Amino acid sequence: MSTKAERGDLAIATRGLRKTYRTRRGRQVAVQGLDLEVPAGGVHGFLGPNGSGKTTSIRMLLGLIRADAGTMRIFDHEVPRRLPEIIGRVGAIVESPRFFPSFTGRTNLALLADAIGAPPTTVDRVLEQTGLGERGRDRFSSYSLGMKQRLAIAATLLKSPDLLIFDEPTNGLDPAGIHEIRTTMRALGAEGRTVLVSSHILGEVEHVADTVSIIGRGRLLASGSVQDVIGRGTVSGLRVGVSDPAGATRVLVDSGFSVTPDGHLLRVDGVTDGAEITHRLAANDLWVNELVPVRADLESVFLELTAHKGLGSGGEET
Ligand SMILES: Nc1ncnc2c1ncn2[C@@H]1O[C@H](COP(=O)(O)OP(=O)(O)OP(=O)(O)O)[C@@H](O)[C@H]1O
Ligand SMILES: [Mg+2]
Repeated sequence: MSTKAERGDLAIATRGLRKTYRTRRGRQVAVQGLDLEVPAGGVHGFLGPNGSGKTTSIRMLLGLIRADAGTMRIFDHEVPRRLPEIIGRVGAIVESPRFFPSFTGRTNLALLADAIGAPPTTVDRVLEQTGLGERGRDRFSSYSLGMKQRLAIAATLLKSPDLLIFDEPTNGLDPAGIHEIRTTMRALGAEGRTVLVSSHILGEVEHVADTVSIIGRGRLLASGSVQDVIGRGTVSGLRVGVSDPAGATRVLVDSGFSVTPDGHLLRVDGVTDGAEITHRLAANDLWVNELVPVRADLESVFLELTAHKGLGSGGEET
């Protein structure tokens, strides 16, 4: 249980969050007891396979759908009850926002700024912030997918929010578009804002996220700094360099190790103590010239945590 002071440092905190959809086949549990903690400031990756409940969780946080059970807090305000007080500090892209195609990006933003009472000068500022400064006077209909997505981010920045929630913002973008969105997110996090970005592709957030939460089947599987989450992975082993790889493979396999060739090295899985290997090989006149620990990366931890059958989708209730 976190203390009150700790809670104050969280941008988002949910406890026991639950959502069941009624479908023709019965009830579909989309989120089942989710405890999510997003620290204030920086980029937080909200990761999970398709159908694991990311969009459902985000929609509950924003008051777009009702939770069945559980509590949610944004900047220590209970939501949805106190959402009206806090929503001015939150910007979100959940569905593709609609803009007028025949108006310029700038005009579209000016209309939105006017609607929320933001000063007109903010329009040029947010265009610059999202790298659209030069294209602001072109029609929205002439924009590439990446530019349209950046205009959506620009729109969320009009009220200068402390918390930005982006649900799969790079869906459908090419590598250059993905890079642009990442750069924008990193800059927002570096300014001290909190960015929650969801994705089913780990690589998309690995390089921008300071912290991550991994969910599967509507439940939290792991969370913390990228380093923490990797550290918890069970994948480990050693890469071994030896002058006679074939001979070394024979000796190690005979000793019960799992050995696979890995470039000019041998990969020995399930062992962390180098002495076990060097001792065994030396006893057979085989000399180790390289010994490198194999650390789990975030991708392998993610795959391992979410690989279990049916973990992506929520369960069915009858
Ligand atoms: N309106 C709905 N009615 C019925 N079931 C739904 C509805 N929306 C989502 N679901 C189901 O709830 C589960 C979670 O869906 P959700 O869209 O939250 O997942 P997600 O993590 O955002 O997935 P993706 O990566 O594909 O966007 C899925 O099994 C989905 O089929
Ligand atoms: Mg989704």
